[in-house]
Amino acid sequence: MACEIEPVPATLGATVTGVEIGRLSDPEWHAIEAAFHEYAVLVFPAQHPSRADQVAFGKRFGGLDPLVAATGRVAISNRRADGSLRDAADPLKQILLGNEGWHTDSSYMPISAKASLLSAELVTEEGGETQWADMRAAYDALDDATRDRITELAAYHSLKYSQLRAGFSETAGDYSYGLDVDDPPLRPLVKRHPVTGRAALFIGRHAFGIPGLASDDSEKLLDELLAFACQPPRLWRHTWSAGDLAIWDNRCVLHRARPYDPGVPRILHHTRIAGDAETESAIGPAGS
Ligand SMILES: [Fe+2]
Repeated sequence: MACEIEPVPATLGATVTGVEIGRLSDPEWHAIEAAFHEYAVLVFPAQHPSRADQVAFGKRFGGLDPLVAATGRVAISNRRADGSLRDAADPLKQILLGNEGWHTDSSYMPISAKASLLSAELVTEEGGETQWADMRAAYDALDDATRDRITELAAYHSLKYSQLRAGFSETAGDYSYGLDVDDPPLRPLVKRHPVTGRAALFIGRHAFGIPGLASDDSEKLLDELLAFACQPPRLWRHTWSAGDLAIWDNRCVLHRARPYDPGVPRILHHTRIAGDAETESAIGPAGS
């Protein structure tokens, strides 16, 4: 069966069938890489990737992000290794719940992530979908006055900020994620994609504190931009089946997890691809 890349009915996203990610021919890889740049989110149904296959496929896009470098793939799960389920007081569960807010991975680190992969091992019957929002199309849809207003603006990005604002605790236990509490990175609100050259909004739950604006005005502007951006036709929600694998471009899409019954186990596996230091470094102060 030939590689088929089928766009979904949104401004981003495509499904890819007829390939095995662990055995790609050169033409298949080139088609996938081109589709990644065009659609920004790709879902490969029924891959059931091994750790090695998922990591090797991810490395085609770039080196591993420091947060996953030790093993290449980490479990995103409400189930502990001993089989018990994490409750709302569990530090990792608080991060997972926080990630039900729109975000882009590692924007709170000195170098934000290029791409993220998820594969599904154990899925819930209801909820637990992953949803993406197209920040390229969101930028294109802004009115001229808003574009002019934000073009020179930047915001700090902090996981601590976003966790506290969402009502969770200040620390994430062992899951420190390099919490940039005293020195959050500063990033422009408008990012130009290093490959396609397309402009995209670079916002999400970690963004706060636009220099030059009062903190209330900054929060209001960021909330308004996020609410505007994350609307159809710029959204795609994927309902997981066990074995599916997804990859997305953190440089131009936001994503979030959808809620699910906390009493039901769910296991996804995450690989994160590091951003290029030349194009994904903060403009200050953490990256300076
Ligand atoms: Fe995420």
